[in-house]
Amino acid sequence: MDRRPGPSARLRLTVSYAGFLLLAGALLLAVVWVFLLRYVPDGALTAGPGAALPGAPPPRFMPNRTDLQRAFLPRAAQALVFLLVFGLLGGWVLAGRMLAPLTRITDAARMTENGSLSHRIRMKGRRDEFRELSDAFDSMLERLESHVAEQQRFAANAAHELRTPLAISRTLLDVARQDPAQDRDELIERLRTVNRRAIDLTEALLLLSRGDRGGFPRESVDLSLIAEEAAETLLPLAERRRIVLEVTGGAARTGGSPELLLRIVTNLVQNAIVHNLPAGGTVTVHTEAHDGASVLRVENTGRRLPPELVPTLTEPFRRGTERVRTDEHSGVGLGLAIVHSIVRAHDGTLDLVPRPGGGLLATVRLPGTP
Ligand SMILES: Nc1ncnc2c1ncn2[C@@H]1O[C@H](COP(=O)(O)OP(=O)(O)OP(=O)(O)O)[C@@H](O)[C@H]1O
Ligand SMILES: [Mg+2]
Repeated sequence: MDRRPGPSARLRLTVSYAGFLLLAGALLLAVVWVFLLRYVPDGALTAGPGAALPGAPPPRFMPNRTDLQRAFLPRAAQALVFLLVFGLLGGWVLAGRMLAPLTRITDAARMTENGSLSHRIRMKGRRDEFRELSDAFDSMLERLESHVAEQQRFAANAAHELRTPLAISRTLLDVARQDPAQDRDELIERLRTVNRRAIDLTEALLLLSRGDRGGFPRESVDLSLIAEEAAETLLPLAERRRIVLEVTGGAARTGGSPELLLRIVTNLVQNAIVHNLPAGGTVTVHTEAHDGASVLRVENTGRRLPPELVPTLTEPFRRGTERVRTDEHSGVGLGLAIVHSIVRAHDGTLDLVPRPGGGLLATVRLPGTP
């Protein structure tokens, strides 16, 4: 922003210091002047009525007001000039010292403007207004830097994941060109699978950004109905993996986007099925209204999860230890990130707790509506 240059804060502070000093000095001199006047009556006092009396001491010189004025005023003016000069010099030095931290903060802001986010002010000394400003600035830089790093990581991961299906398609096409005798139907089928994976991934990324942005229409939704719908869709997958899928609980109303809330339940239940025991596992989906909140719990058996791994699972592109890659489950590591972002956009919370016997308990709490 271009602004008209004005007098610097240092100059203004200096002038204020000097002005105050001058004013205080003038007031003090005025008080002294009034005080002196009380002892010096008007008119000449050199000869009194008793002055001629014999034996009286010779008359003393007594100053009158004019004499006093003559003696006092030049001295007072000198004192004021001295105070002015002293105030200006002292004020300039003091203001410079006071404003020095501000210069450091401005320098840091300029460096940030030029793209350096790693710079910190790290102001030393006791806590005061400048120290607080600089600390606030430092912590803002810290958050900004980690946010930018996270975004860069996200973009790199997304690009990497999107490149994979494209690279596979190119290999398939290259092979087909070199070997015209290859089965065309099989080629088309494999290309379709790879293509679907790329579309799924792109849709997941779009969904993630939509959840993050919020701003979708909200309506009253019953989580238990959504849970039923998700379970119905995923039942064939559970059966193929010989997993018992159960939906329990009662109505749990909340306000939000039915489409996005269905995505939450679908992702959680799909995870619960896919990351379960190879056979004989169970998945329980439970909904309830509790303490003014609408709660959804998805619990599954499975392998034991290291507790330190669990909090990181909601990060985008974070996959667990096992690598399951089947037709139903490409496993990019976006499922829980999407759940987390949608839950946040609905002002809710997502809790992941590893079950002692193995598997995971995921709890979503959303603001309830009566
Ligand atoms: N219910 C669960 N039980 C056990 N492990 C789980 C469960 N849900 C998630 N995980 C672990 O967390 C990881 C991240 O899950 P997430 O849903 O984000 O990605 P994904 O399932 O691997 O891939 P996708 O993007 O297709 O969902 C999984 O790879 C898995 O290791
Ligand atoms: Mg998943």
